Amino acid sequence: MPETSSPLPHADPQHLSPVTLPGDRQLVLRVMPMPADANGNGDIFGGWIMAQVDLAGAVLPARIAKGRIATVAVNQFVFKQPVSVGDLLSFYAKVERIGTTSITVHVEVYAERNPANLQVVKVTEANLTYVAIDMQGQPRKLPKD
Ligand SMILES: CC(C)(COP(=O)(O)OP(=O)(O)OC[C@H]1O[C@@H](n2cnc3c(N)ncnc32)[C@H](O)[C@@H]1OP(=O)(O)O)[C@@H](O)C(=O)NCCC(=O)NCCS
Repeated sequence: MPETSSPLPHADPQHLSPVTLPGDRQLVLRVMPMPADANGNGDIFGGWIMAQVDLAGAVLPARIAKGRIATVAVNQFVFKQPVSVGDLLSFYAKVERIGTTSITVHVEVYAERNPANLQVVKVTEANLTYVAIDMQGQPRKLPKD
């Protein structure tokens, strides 16, 4: 069951579903999948979602690393609910760990669907680790500030 958090801005509380978007993480990406991203059943390809999660997960680490980063690991990737064409996907990220050269983030993806009777559904989550790299592609220490 997805967790409950702060309500959607500008939403009419009368029409809020029990699940709302998180307020304790940063919104790093919003995108709406198109028909070209769907399979024959009309569901969105998992690989497309994984690519968006990788892009979204890189936003906070790139700021912290202040330079090039590479994805070194993707863990505990869970597709909780199918995604459909027309869902508005919101990607929320939270930094879980900052190491010497690496940063691990937790990314959660929420789908907003059926605007006339708004539903918010947590569809995907994953942990991703990014490494700061130098111009030779080797790990480099993260800047102090
Ligand atoms: C990223 C890369 C430069 C790291 O090089 P490496 O020699 O494996 O680096 P190290 O073993 O020194 O580890 C570097 C950091 O990554 C972390 N790390 C390495 N493997 C990891 C894994 N499987 N899971 C989580 N963290 C990992 C280490 O703990 C270390 O973190 P720390 O310095 O904060 O303690 C190298 O693995 C690489 O080029 N991989 C390909 C990246 C890529 O092409 N990604 C896809 C497209 S972006």
